[in-house]
Amino acid sequence: MGIRIAGIGRYVPEKVLTNHDLEQMVETSDQWIRERTGIVERHIAAPNESTSDLAYKAALDALNRAGISPEELDMVFVASASPDMLFPATGCLVQAKLGAKNAGCFDVEAACPGFVYGLELARGFLSLPHYKKVLVIGAETLSRITDWTDRNTCVLFGDGAGAAVLIKDDSNRGIIASYLKGNGKLGDLLYLPAGCAKMPASHETVDQRLHFIKMKGREVFKHAVVEMQTSALKALERAGLKPEDVDWLVPHQANIRIIEATYERLGLPREKVYINIDRYGNTSSASIPIALAEMDEKGLLKPGQIVVTVSFGAGFIYGANVIRW
Ligand code: UT7
Repeated sequence: MGIRIAGIGRYVPEKVLTNHDLEQMVETSDQWIRERTGIVERHIAAPNESTSDLAYKAALDALNRAGISPEELDMVFVASASPDMLFPATGCLVQAKLGAKNAGCFDVEAACPGFVYGLELARGFLSLPHYKKVLVIGAETLSRITDWTDRNTCVLFGDGAGAAVLIKDDSNRGIIASYLKGNGKLGDLLYLPAGCAKMPASHETVDQRLHFIKMKGREVFKHAVVEMQTSALKALERAGLKPEDVDWLVPHQANIRIIEATYERLGLPREKVYINIDRYGNTSSASIPIALAEMDEKGLLKPGQIVVTVSFGAGFIYGANVIRW
């Protein structure tokens, strides 16, 4: 039995924010951002758009490409670090927008690796008898939790969504193996302090800008480089494969230098790595499905190819999937 991606789609908001725009907002330069991160521009949601809207549009694209109607779905879930609200889950808001009336719905909070975790979760559901079609979405409106006065973080993030419809069939295609791990002791490397049970919203939390992303960038970088390599290798080992068997590496798009270090450590050539960070920045859980959808649109993904997705993020968590496309 194969558990495979039958359709993959994406949506990014229309508005583009360039490095030159950011030069007008904080003390930074286009040159610094390009050289240190590889980012040139990112998309930003319109005031009337939020995560569920982006997720809904990406989901429609994926469903169209799969030729599957919303009523056929058994489960809908959204991976997001920037959900519309704490509850109800953004997955439920999307289920309603789609009219996926036969599906269960919930959210996965697994930060940037949310889609990698989501694919493995979908594989779990589809291994059970009563689940046949599952929709996994990675969607973010990070612009709403970004501190636009903090140059250490505001140059990095963008908004967007990607979605995949997974089905089970008799082929040998699909997710062959995954590796998911975490180190919760490193939670303070990247976090959003206020607005929930530990530190409810107050005038003080607003005044102290505690409703925005806080990050120790250099520390995150160091762990990311190690864990991206380890995760990809562990997932490949579980699949009985080696780096030389990989046709495409699709890494989380957080920093071009992290991506370069990852493929070099794995001994992969640049041509086997899909990179679009220049146009989107870091869209967290959406970065991998947006990349896969773009690759699919360009006809880069051929049946039978080995595709490895790998990601890291707040938690600290990391993971990889090995997919026979
Ligand atoms: O999905 C996971 C999300 N997080 C990440 O992936 C973050 C991983 N980390 C990174 O990508 C990098 O650490 C950053 C891009 C965040 C920072 O790059 P860096 O090479 O690690 O720079 P740094 O933090 O060591 O800072 C070097 C200098 C500092 O100035 P001083 O202290 O040397 O005078 C910073 O203040 O660069 C300065 N700096 C900036 N300068 C211009 C930091 N941000 C900026 C900026 N523009 N936007």
